[in-house]
This record gives sequence, C-alpha cells and structure tokens, in this order.
Amino acid sequence: MQAPHPPLHEYYAHESDRVGWVNRLFDRTAGDYDRIERAMALGTGSWYRRGALARAGLTAGMRVLDIGTGTGLTAREAARLVGATGQVIGIDPSAGMLDSARVPPGVNLLLGSAEQIPSGPASADFLSMGYALRHIADVSAAFREFFRVLIPGGRICLLEITSPPGRISRGLLRAYMRGVVPFMARYLAAHRDSPQLMRYYWDTIEACVAPRVILAAIREAGFIEVARHVELGIFSEYRARKPLA
Ligand SMILES: C[S@@+](CC[C@H](N)C(=O)[O-])C[C@H]1O[C@@H](n2cnc3c(N)ncnc32)[C@H](O)[C@@H]1O
Repeated sequence: MQAPHPPLHEYYAHESDRVGWVNRLFDRTAGDYDRIERAMALGTGSWYRRGALARAGLTAGMRVLDIGTGTGLTAREAARLVGATGQVIGIDPSAGMLDSARVPPGVNLLLGSAEQIPSGPASADFLSMGYALRHIADVSAAFREFFRVLIPGGRICLLEITSPPGRISRGLLRAYMRGVVPFMARYLAAHRDSPQLMRYYWDTIEACVAPRVILAAIREAGFIEVARHVELGIFSEYRARKPLA
C-alpha cells in the first residue's frame, strides 16, 4: 500500500506533487492550527488524545516517538502520561508546524517523516501518530519504519478520523467538516489558506482507504495484536504490538 488516498486534483495535479503541496500547506497554516483544532473539537482534543494513548497502553517511564507531531498536540499528552521518567520525541516534515509547536520542556522536536524516521532501531517503547496517517505518501514504508524503531513488545497507537459507514451520519459529519469548520476557520485564522486546510482535511477523510486496508498494511509490516477501536463512530484508534521475537 502506498498513498492512503488517490491524488486530490482539486488541490494538486499529480501524485508527485503531493508531498510538497501538503508540506507547504501545513507550513503556511501552522500558526492557526491549534486555534482551529480547539474550535473544531469543541475543546475536547487534549482529553481525547490523552485517553486514547492511555487506552493503548502508554504509561509512565516509556520512551515515545510521536510521528506527524505538528504543533505537538499529541506529544504534549504523551509527555503528561510518561512523566519525568519518560521521554517524548516529536517528528514532523513541516518546519512551520514544528516552529509553532508548544511542548513542555524535555520534549524534543525533529524534522523527519513517517517514511524516514531519524531514530535508531529499537529506540522507542511506544509510537503515536495523531491525525497524520492521511497525509503520508507511502503508508507501507511508514509502517516498516514504525516496526524498525520500536523495541520488541513495543506498541503503536494511530489516531484517525474515519468516515462513518451510515449515510446520514456521514452526511452530518460532512456538513460539519466541509461546511461549518472551514467557515469558522475564516474568522479564527490569521492565514487565508487555513479554510483550505480544513476543506482538505475532510476531503482526505472521505477519500481515504477503508480501515481494513490500513489494518492489513499494519499486519503486513510484521505487527501482531492489530486492532481498531472506534469511539463515537468516527474516532479510529489503530493499535498493534511488535512481537517479542
Ligand atoms: C493534522 S496535523 C496533526 C498534528 C498532531 N499530531 C495532532 O495530533 O493534532 C498532520 C501533521 O502530519 C504531518 N505530516 C504530513 N506528511 C507527513 C509524513 N509523511 N510523515 C509524518 N508526518 C506528516 C503534517 O506536517 C502535520 O503536521
């Protein structure tokens, strides 16, 4: 499996333009990301991220790699859970997002991508990724990297919004994400491209491959105990473990 959705021609012409286009979009709108996310999630984002990481087994003292860390919203919650004896490193390809990140002391931020993680083999106990799966260009390469950087027994927790199967619930979510959220972004954002980021956000959700394809790609990379837990019908938590031997 390579990209999680076909090229979206409304935004970029060819598959080869995807990575650069996505990077530039996040670079430009980074300063608005936290404000829009707070409004979109009605202030529940931190609480939800922390709960999802805890449900996946993140506990005090662990070494965490947070991939697609952006402005650090998931890394911050990981840092709260691992405490002073743990360690969190956030990795993202957008220098703009990393420059806008607000993370507690001790959380390190590095430029890199899911497909090329700047960490050694078996260097993490836990790997998290919040809402970045849809933006990866090569999902199978990313899952192989996740496997490489984890210790035997290490766990992953990938958070995503998934289009609900029912027509009515999908229509309601679409109206909120494609209509209300970009409209809110026009008033909350400093950068004129932020409403486009939020339209793109929904379009990638709608175009993304089905969860069973993601689960199969995680298994293919060598993980075991591969599962998807769903909250409120749309919040997917992909979990898996690297075998001990
Ligand atoms: C919607 S933001 C999520 C930020 C944060 N993790 C959160 O929980 O809100 C998606 C992030 O994925 C990053 N991203 C895009 N392509 C990526 C890739 N190939 N590997 C890792 N991260 C990527 C973007 O730069 C952006 O910061």
